[in-house]
Amino acid sequence: MTSRRGFLSANAAAMAALTSAKVRAAKTSSTGFPYTEFEALIRRRDFRDMTKDVLPTPCMIVDQAIFERNVKAMAERTKALGIDVRPHVKIHKSVDVAKLQMAHGAIGLTCATIAEAELMSGAGLKNVMWTKQPASRNAIERAVALSKKDPTFSFVVDDPLVVDWIEQAAEAENARLKMLVSVYAGLSRQGIENGQPALELAQKVASSKRMKFDGIMAYSGFASHTHGWQKRREQSAKDMAQARETVELCKKSGLPVNIFTGGSTGTYNIDHENGLTELEAGSYVFMDTAYFAVGGKDNDAAYTDFGGALTILTTVDSKRHPNQVTIDYGNKAGVRATDAVKGMPWLEVATQGAEYGLLKWKDGSSEPKLGDRLEIYCTTLDNSTNYYDRYYVAQGDRIVDVWPIMGRSGAAQR
Ligand SMILES: Cc1ncc(COP(=O)(O)O)c(C=O)c1O
Repeated sequence: MTSRRGFLSANAAAMAALTSAKVRAAKTSSTGFPYTEFEALIRRRDFRDMTKDVLPTPCMIVDQAIFERNVKAMAERTKALGIDVRPHVKIHKSVDVAKLQMAHGAIGLTCATIAEAELMSGAGLKNVMWTKQPASRNAIERAVALSKKDPTFSFVVDDPLVVDWIEQAAEAENARLKMLVSVYAGLSRQGIENGQPALELAQKVASSKRMKFDGIMAYSGFASHTHGWQKRREQSAKDMAQARETVELCKKSGLPVNIFTGGSTGTYNIDHENGLTELEAGSYVFMDTAYFAVGGKDNDAAYTDFGGALTILTTVDSKRHPNQVTIDYGNKAGVRATDAVKGMPWLEVATQGAEYGLLKWKDGSSEPKLGDRLEIYCTTLDNSTNYYDRYYVAQGDRIVDVWPIMGRSGAAQR
């Protein structure tokens, strides 16, 4: 695991490349903003006079301009490279974000859980793919039900036993299913062995009268965060090599492989070289500090292909000791030592408890004051968004929209 010191030095150039932030002093006297009506205003989508100053903290802010630039950039660059995008929604869990991705040419959506797939498909979004095999009765029945309701839905398997279980459930429901075979691509968390075992699994799926074999999934998640673009390119080529051979083997044996899916934000301009037909990239919409540090094609120290669009707004709520302040972004809000303060990269982030975060510094050009409001880039988007129930969408200091973060309420919903 990267130490905070190591992480920060690797991240320093990336942080310097980020836009500087204005530190705002909180408005502590009456501004005339009707706090008692805050939720009612949001329900009515009446955002007049709603600025970052009046928001409860800690909360998540999406910079609308940067977010939209990221979505357009991914769409344009992948189009030029001749590869499709099926963005991963685990990063944002937001129908609003997914709709914009689809409007910019995404061919569908990738989901980590059946709940995310139900959510996106239920919102009318098509070609949702679930990248984990169902291995419980609950998950199998939900995958079968969603396949019946939405024939564009697909999901993966990596085990012949699971194919048998699914077959039984599909038979009972008279359902037809679209399925892919998940193969190993450098991550031991899932994926059948490449070559003959993968081919036999694909043949088993294709020979079922209930199932259509749609292709191969190979997620090379280790390569995604490899530091340095050239090293990342080499890692991805290595991790994808056997999966590519599996695709060829399937084709040679007469199985049509419509889809070869995988890839990530880190390999979006690499994995077309590895034969993928589509990318499951997710983090590019908002970006996080883990990605800032991986380096890009043009700049090995900073990954600036996509901008930091998501921050956590926090308030400095105590300043009683030298060279440190307490903020309200603590464990319950997902604070991490590898987070970074927007515009003030010399501040170290740490925790002091459930509702208490810490910012420390040795020296810096300015120091936070009591009542200041700061914005912090989180470390891993999918973990962080899981702590919050909405994104406040901002144009500069003005809040122009609120998007719910969905599907976080209980195990069956995650
Ligand atoms: C199956 C799968 N595909 C793709 C991704 C890529 O996401 P990102 O672009 O955020 O690295 C992930 C992220 O965890 C994933 O789990």
